[in-house]
Amino acid sequence: MSTKSAVHTLVCFLQLCVVNGQTTCERQMTAEWRLQPKPSVVKWTPRENICSDFYTECWNMNKSITGETSEEQNLSIPQICPLQLQLGDTLFISSEPSFQSYGMNLVNVSKEEFINCPKAAFLQEQLIFVCQIKGLHQVDPNWLGVGTHYFAELHKRGPLLCTMGLRLNVTVKQQFCQQAPNAPLCSGHGKCLSHVWEKAYHCHCFSQYSGRFCQKFDVCSTKPCHNNASCTQKSQLSGDSYECTCPPQFSGENCTEIVGQCQPRTCFNGNCSNVTPNTFLCECDKGFT
Ligand SMILES: *[C@@H]1O[C@H](CO)[C@@H](O)[C@H](O)[C@H]1NC(C)=O
Ligand SMILES: *[C@@H]1O[C@H](CO)[C@@H](O)[C@H](O)[C@H]1NC(C)=O
Ligand SMILES: *[C@@H]1O[C@H](CO)[C@@H](O)[C@H](O)[C@H]1NC(C)=O
Ligand SMILES: *[C@@H]1O[C@H](CO)[C@@H](O)[C@H](O)[C@H]1NC(C)=O
Ligand SMILES: *[C@@H]1O[C@H](CO)[C@@H](O)[C@H](O)[C@H]1NC(C)=O
Ligand SMILES: *[C@@H]1O[C@H](CO)[C@@H](O)[C@H](O)[C@H]1NC(C)=O
Repeated sequence: MSTKSAVHTLVCFLQLCVVNGQTTCERQMTAEWRLQPKPSVVKWTPRENICSDFYTECWNMNKSITGETSEEQNLSIPQICPLQLQLGDTLFISSEPSFQSYGMNLVNVSKEEFINCPKAAFLQEQLIFVCQIKGLHQVDPNWLGVGTHYFAELHKRGPLLCTMGLRLNVTVKQQFCQQAPNAPLCSGHGKCLSHVWEKAYHCHCFSQYSGRFCQKFDVCSTKPCHNNASCTQKSQLSGDSYECTCPPQFSGENCTEIVGQCQPRTCFNGNCSNVTPNTFLCECDKGFT
């Protein structure tokens, strides 16, 4: 992927809407798993895409409607719009030319250090880039394992740029939507989705399908049991077997047979045929049931 097309992807990906002069990060509450990994580019600048209020700006939600009660709830720190990636996505940091002369780098920090901005000295192992960054740099995939990661600006002249918002919360999610490595997502009978607060992608099955991978067909939804019988799905791997529990006067696999034997004129508009010594079936004339 060329730098140019990566930057273009950024423009599409990090589209921001500015409300009353504040940045509100644009995002979908629920994302669907993409089959292809995607590059994301984060502009490392305090001039754009910095949100402050946790819910309304950074996560683009109404405070009143969120049932969440986490300690982050009242958090109001300037930060780069938090990012959610799929496992395997690539991440690029694009530094602003005016900062490049400072000699900037990013450091992998704990949540506390993310909130308070790093103050202590850092080990070489915590630096995201081997050398100071200029222009567009890819974050090594080793930093983007499943989970939430916090990257903060590390600057020789103190934590100023971090407190101005140069800190990033990146959550990487994996999917649990494939029964086998090359199987279709959700067996082709559902969508592989993740809500913002969920830690992974899971199947949401279309109607008539169930199971972790939507691999089970709910045969009862086809209404195979007649005459007001109740249908029970038998928990079998194939998932397409069922059992009808018939009302007293009916019998047979689908409760279509009537208990008793054929008598003259038992079936009003149709023919009567004995199925077993105890049951018969009315074969109705056209237009009658
Ligand atoms: C938040 O509330 C406003 C006004 O009450 C409403 O217009 C908007 O659609 C809501 N947004 C969400 C994400 O629910
Ligand atoms: C990043 O920092 C966190 C918190 O200090 C630590 O738990 C994690 O292992 C670090 N990540 C890597 C890849 O070293
Ligand atoms: C980071 O983002 C995750 C969701 O991806 C969220 O649950 C968490 O509260 C955020 N952390 C902070 C400190 O904002
Ligand atoms: C079907 O069963 C329901 C509840 O078991 C009952 O209320 C209803 O009257 C029955 N309908 C017929 C046609 O037997
Ligand atoms: C019961 O219904 C199923 C599905 O409609 C059908 O395949 C099967 O042949 C029926 N069984 C009998 C005994 O009629
Ligand atoms: C009933 O039986 C008659 C004579 O055998 C036949 O012509 C007719 O098609 C049958 N009707 C049905 C609904 O099976």
